[in-house]
Amino acid sequence: MVLVDAGGQVAYANGLLETLSGYSRGELFGQLIEFLVPERFRELHTKHRFGYVANPRARPMGVNLDIYLRRKDGTEFPADIALSPLQTDSGMVVVAALRDATERKEAQTRLHRLAVLEDRERIAKELHDGVIQALFAVGMNLQATEAKAGDPEAVRARLSGAVDSIDVAIRDLRNYIFGLRPGILADRQLDQALHLLVEEFQEKSGVVTAVQIDERVAAQFGNTATQLVQVTREALSNVARHAQATTCRVSLLQHDESAVLEIDDDGRGFKPGRGGSRGQGLRNMRERIEAIGGTFSVESSPAEGTTVRIRLPL
Ligand SMILES: Nc1ncnc2c1ncn2[C@@H]1O[C@H](COP(=O)(O)OP(=O)(O)OP(=O)(O)O)[C@@H](O)[C@H]1O
Ligand SMILES: [Mg+2]
Repeated sequence: MVLVDAGGQVAYANGLLETLSGYSRGELFGQLIEFLVPERFRELHTKHRFGYVANPRARPMGVNLDIYLRRKDGTEFPADIALSPLQTDSGMVVVAALRDATERKEAQTRLHRLAVLEDRERIAKELHDGVIQALFAVGMNLQATEAKAGDPEAVRARLSGAVDSIDVAIRDLRNYIFGLRPGILADRQLDQALHLLVEEFQEKSGVVTAVQIDERVAAQFGNTATQLVQVTREALSNVARHAQATTCRVSLLQHDESAVLEIDDDGRGFKPGRGGSRGQGLRNMRERIEAIGGTFSVESSPAEGTTVRIRLPL
């Protein structure tokens, strides 16, 4: 705490200021307050001080400004300062309450770093599960087109499908960048989005797919619907790429007090739970679902097909 008179001189300083600054009260008393301000800020501070005396009111000093004070030993520390004017018999004084802001600033930096890390994670996931899978599907489609090079009508239809898919991927990318929901959900309910995903998947992979969705269950998902869409998209992409399945089933139903989403194929299966896969898909799925309070499991055995199961409390 420090009291500064209208002329800018220290009229009173408390013990805390002695500790913070390294100066004794005797050394501070009568000094211009700029004495505590690092040299490079002094001129500006003097101007602000004149401004304040002309128009005094209680306020935190320099909200969002980085204010630093200089100690006797020349080192500096960040400070939070609140000012309030006080009328006394000998004129106006300004009461400045000071606090060492080092810890607050460090906490702020830590929070900021954490937010950046979370953003990176989120963006990596969205790119992997959304855009990369979408582009992969376009690639598969174009590959299949090569084989049909003798049939111009089929080539034309596939090329126009590929262009549409690229447009969707671009729209999704834009949405991720702005932190919005994936494009497929932007103007749709979860059940419609899942139907559409399956339709696209069926068309591109040739795997006959049945869909069974309880609309009342689907309607209960708000923001978390995004996660369900992305997980389904990745699971279907895995079926297309790895399963060699002929049929698949996507269902979202209620079991007891939970919503259960299943993506089930009759393909060649694999041994889940084995490390060593360089893929991120399964890991992303698990993380997405656990982050929204659900459980994720994969059941698969060679020749028996694969079931990806997500359970979310309702
Ligand atoms: N439905 C499935 N049928 C058969 N094998 C599967 C199925 N789903 C996953 N796998 C196997 O599990 C592995 C890991 O899948 P994951 O999605 O994590 O990675 P990926 O698909 O190989 O790569 P990424 O998803 O990162 O592009 C796959 O490489 C594949 O061998
Ligand atoms: Mg995958």
